[in-house]
Amino acid sequence: MRALILAAGLGTRFRSEKPKVLHNILGKPMIWYVINLLKNAGVTDIGIVVGHKAQDVIKAVEDQEVKVFYQKNPKGGTGDAVISSLDFWRDYEDYLLVINGDSPLITSETLKQMQRFLSLVQEYEKTTPSALLLSSFLPDPTGYGRVIKDEKGNVIRIVEEKDASFQEKQVNEINGGLYMFYAPHLFDVIFHIKPSKETGEVYLTQAIELMTKKGYIVKSFMASDPTEVLGINNRWELAIAENVMRLRILKYWAEKGNTIHQPESVWIEPDVLLEGDVEIFPNVSLKGKTRIGKGSKIGNGAVLENTVVEENVIVDAYSVVRNSRIESGAVVGPFAHIRDESVIGKNSHVGNFVEVKKSKLDEDVKAKHLAYIGDAFIGSATNIGAGVVFANFDGKNKHQTHIGKNVFVGSNSLLIAPLKIEDFVFIAGGSVVNKDIGTGDFAISRPKLRVVKGKGKEKLA
Ligand code: UD1
Ligand code: MG
Repeated sequence: MRALILAAGLGTRFRSEKPKVLHNILGKPMIWYVINLLKNAGVTDIGIVVGHKAQDVIKAVEDQEVKVFYQKNPKGGTGDAVISSLDFWRDYEDYLLVINGDSPLITSETLKQMQRFLSLVQEYEKTTPSALLLSSFLPDPTGYGRVIKDEKGNVIRIVEEKDASFQEKQVNEINGGLYMFYAPHLFDVIFHIKPSKETGEVYLTQAIELMTKKGYIVKSFMASDPTEVLGINNRWELAIAENVMRLRILKYWAEKGNTIHQPESVWIEPDVLLEGDVEIFPNVSLKGKTRIGKGSKIGNGAVLENTVVEENVIVDAYSVVRNSRIESGAVVGPFAHIRDESVIGKNSHVGNFVEVKKSKLDEDVKAKHLAYIGDAFIGSATNIGAGVVFANFDGKNKHQTHIGKNVFVGSNSLLIAPLKIEDFVFIAGGSVVNKDIGTGDFAISRPKLRVVKGKGKEKLA
């Protein structure tokens, strides 16, 4: 089946410099969801009509293998958009699927059900409908095209809000912006659509009335979940759609055996994976291609982006982890910051106010309080004391620090890179280390403490 996405409109109601279909829902542009639902329903031949800020839209879909068509007049209307892609479907003798680019909540399941419904109608009613459209009942249908039907339940026409009479406005069944048109019949009528008197636009929905006037049959298919048909025409509708999508994703992961506490506060993007028995606490954000392994817990307010968390890890409250890997059994946070391809090894502990950048911590490493670890390798079972700073930047370049196994770096030490510290070294607290240290050596650099008798504070009377 061929599918055409309409994405050329001005999106005036968005009041935005950015094309409407590029506004994000959970970190992905609206258009991504539309392409994704088509692909998940097995549609491979996809065309897209662009017009307003065409180059931006094309760029956003460049890795998606879609055919691009241009609509010259951005105020032409949805019918004009379909005419602009005539090369895509003129000789097509099957059903052309047309979907609004601002309908990201429709699911691939619904699309598959529609396809099945169409073949059942063909098989049992021995009719070939000229069009099947997705509809739903909305308690408040304001703004949508209303589906007007005859007594047999067939569609007679769709009337747009602006053209609807008082009676028609009372109809709650709305047009969901997804249609399957038998292409030869669409061709028969589409050039006969007259522009709207109200707006001058050529409405695709007018094609339905022209079809039924010719005696063609048009049917509607009701979406089981009315949130699917929500069209996104302004920023508040975007916010509502994002919420619907967010809750769907959370429900999906809960059903797969993960606990989500206070779901109204949790943000999980569509490419995230939870492997089971994961526990997510309130206000967590999981972004990009993040994966959370079995049995791991992600504490309140933690933000993880493009990060792999292996099994039985604890990422404690308010930690931020980006583009990094946390290996099994490790504990990170509360209030830790891990970034830029860092690796926190098995069973290691990185505690509060520790920042780790481009560094690999091997197994059982401990850096539990107030440290900066940058451009370093730290061998297994090494302890980094409170307040240790890896001085990796000399003002011009970044340098590496290599620390071996079982090393003890005392609190508040300064390690000046480039630096190599071998295994079993002991560095006393407060040392400034600016040269390499050999295996098993002890290092201390500390100004001598002077105690002057009786020169402290005066005693209070
Ligand atoms: C449209 C339907 C309405 C339906 C609703 C569902 C028409 C005339 N009306 O209304 O019946 O209930 O969707 O959400 O179709 N577009 C173009 N070129 C244009 C105009 C629009 O490509 O000249 C694209 C837009 O980028 C958008 C889609 O078509 O992705 C729908 O356009 P929009 O203006 O949002 O139509 P609605 O008023 O929502
Ligand atoms: Mg719309």
